[in-house]
Amino acid sequence: MYLKRAIFLVLLISINVLAQTRKVIELKQDWKFYKGQNEEAFKKDFNDSKWQTVSVPHDWAIYGPFNKEIDKQMVAIEQNGEKIPTEKTGRTGALPYIGEGWYRKTFNVSNLNKNQKVLLTFDGAMSQPKVFVNGKKVGEWNYGYNYFYFDVTDFLDSDYNVLAVHLANFGESSRWYPGAGLYRKVRLIVKNKESINHLGTYITTPMVSKDLAKVNVKTEVIGNNVQLLTTISDAQGNEVASNKTATVFNNEFEQNIPVINPNLWSPENPYLYTAVTKLYKNDELIDESITRFGIRSIAYEANKGFSLNGNVRKFKGVCLHHDLGPIGTAINRSALRRQLRILKDMGVDAIRSSHNMPSLEQLELCDEMGFMYLAESFDEWARAKVKNGYHLYFETDVEKDLVSLIHTTRNHPCIVMWSSGNEVPDQYGTEGVKRAKRLQDIFHREDPTRPVTVGMDRVDQTMKSGFGALLDVPGLNYRVHLYEEAFEKFPQGFILGSETASTVSSRGVYKFPVEKASMKQYDDFQCSSYDLEYCSWSNLPDDDFVLQDDKPWVIGEFVWTGFDYLGEPTPYDDKWPSRSSYFGINDLAGLPKDRFYLYRSRWNTKEETLHILPHWNWEGREGETTPVFVYTSYNSAELFVNGKSMGIQKKNNETPQNRYRLMWMDVKYEPGTIKVVAFDNEGNPVDKKETHTSGKPYKIVLDPDVKQLKANGEDLAFVTVSVVDKNGVPCPTANNQLKFKVKGEGSYRAACNGDATSLQMFHLPTMKLFNGKLVILVQSTTEVGDIHLKVSGKGLKAADFTIKSVL
Ligand code: GAL
Repeated sequence: MYLKRAIFLVLLISINVLAQTRKVIELKQDWKFYKGQNEEAFKKDFNDSKWQTVSVPHDWAIYGPFNKEIDKQMVAIEQNGEKIPTEKTGRTGALPYIGEGWYRKTFNVSNLNKNQKVLLTFDGAMSQPKVFVNGKKVGEWNYGYNYFYFDVTDFLDSDYNVLAVHLANFGESSRWYPGAGLYRKVRLIVKNKESINHLGTYITTPMVSKDLAKVNVKTEVIGNNVQLLTTISDAQGNEVASNKTATVFNNEFEQNIPVINPNLWSPENPYLYTAVTKLYKNDELIDESITRFGIRSIAYEANKGFSLNGNVRKFKGVCLHHDLGPIGTAINRSALRRQLRILKDMGVDAIRSSHNMPSLEQLELCDEMGFMYLAESFDEWARAKVKNGYHLYFETDVEKDLVSLIHTTRNHPCIVMWSSGNEVPDQYGTEGVKRAKRLQDIFHREDPTRPVTVGMDRVDQTMKSGFGALLDVPGLNYRVHLYEEAFEKFPQGFILGSETASTVSSRGVYKFPVEKASMKQYDDFQCSSYDLEYCSWSNLPDDDFVLQDDKPWVIGEFVWTGFDYLGEPTPYDDKWPSRSSYFGINDLAGLPKDRFYLYRSRWNTKEETLHILPHWNWEGREGETTPVFVYTSYNSAELFVNGKSMGIQKKNNETPQNRYRLMWMDVKYEPGTIKVVAFDNEGNPVDKKETHTSGKPYKIVLDPDVKQLKANGEDLAFVTVSVVDKNGVPCPTANNQLKFKVKGEGSYRAACNGDATSLQMFHLPTMKLFNGKLVILVQSTTEVGDIHLKVSGKGLKAADFTIKSVL
């Protein structure tokens, strides 16, 4: 009780202290939204009462409907080696992101005095935001993925204020679903004019050892006769070091603070410190800012590769687009956390934000949960990939876009590398080489502590032109056949697999005969989960594993992609309906495909993996060859079909597949049970798994990912829905149409089944199962209480379930 009260008091005091010097207000609720043109909407007294009320973050396009005609691109995708234009239908997701939109919001900043100022910050706005306050234009920012802010002090009125934001998206502006609207958070910061600059804190750890770390804190301020006190606390809130200084160099303080016996940040030990920086003027506190940081060292060295805190390691990374499947691009912390939890279980230790600035929420979670981060900036420089892409703004905006990325994110310990571009067509020609240098120099100027890469696909060109040689980290996208040559020709002494694999599969879909194939298409627009299908420019996971395992100078890989995403439905770019990717290791609903276990079997070094594929419901295939694959961390295993041994398989070096998978190619299907028994290195049976042929779908089963929700109006439970037969055996081919009802202190947010060809909308409370599964998202309200979910379907025993929403 006393302890509780004490904590409460401390909290109260710190809030008060902060409240005196600065206030941060997130503008979340009660926005007004209108999709379309409006000449008057920027005005303060404009009547928006008929507009839709929404909360921000918001993605106006995710509610669909899917439409083949939206952003139909008649193009030849050069990066994919295409020469002749064809009609690309689902390239940007076939969702209505194109056009103009307005958001309006009233706000009050009461009792502002003449010594204070107000900043308005956006973490991103899709796209070309033009910002108005009280009818006057404050500013604009073209790139939809970047963070930006304005000082709006001089625009404010004393009674009430109206913020209006105009957004516009062109067709052919993206190669994937970009989303639309105010999809990241918007905040007001009220603080003194004499204060610490916004983004003016820069913390680095230039010297790190077991016993001692030097924490360098640079703080830009506005103010005369000011002093700075920086206090560093450990993760428990205990003060571990502090420093006070009155020496300002121009407008910057610089402190070097020793931390004894530092607890070093790493994916395995994501330990975070906090620096509280207080600015005083004549002993009066005038500002205070809090920065979380980690103590860690990174190095990239020839013949050694990448090391973190002195330990050499290889990136076990995945690339991620920014959409969150069924909720589109509207940022949501619990959706991001769930993704990272799934990736953690797979053994992933690094993320690449392809091909743009990441959300701050994702970076915060990577700091906390332990993922290294490759923060990328652009998919285009001055030369176009798509007609209305970033090349339109490159010359005018690139400098400020990079500076904003670096200043906004540089205190995150998770970021261990920058990327200035992905497969930019500027890889050709001398101008491109100059651009690569120019951008890398900007990164070095603003943050000398991290190296810069570019994901290169024209490796032959960049070996000749000097483009690859000048990069801090040469990143190869695919091109496994050129790794060796690139390593010889480039001077760095190591190579990064900045983008790898692009293997395609659909969860729960298996095709026969089982064979390796490039750009393989089927009538149902699905790809096989035997994981042997890839793109003309890409390869199978095993080809990358060989390089990772055999070449000490390869410093890791970032697989394309961790999760399926909206848009880019290769190999069905020109087929309809098909509107999302097949590249994901997990599907669009976040459900693992078989490939999840292939990566897990080598990346998760804490737990064993033993996974069998395919499912064993092959009515009509009796007696036909139906290969069985096992993805496992064990070296050998024996397979049984209805008790009959199919022999022992051992990993071997015959082919890359034989090295990383156990495969029984000649199994003949008969219904019943397949069982795999895995052996340790001495040949003792140590683990087993079974798959059964199921009967008819009988009952719905619900499996939520969390035990309770936070009553904050945003928290999400992801409930996996499956169907089992009378004996509880999962039905792997069930495709029943289900209905969902949520009651109590929660609401139905969305559902997703991972089927790239489905045109059912995510936000409607009904959806078909795809191969026996789908996922429902249930969202808390701001009230504490019970949330009830009921799922029903014709001819099936319904299921329900209650989850608590707490403070
Ligand atoms: C890469 C590209 C990615 C994605 C991928 C699909 O070349 O960088 O954005 O298009 O191919 O395989």
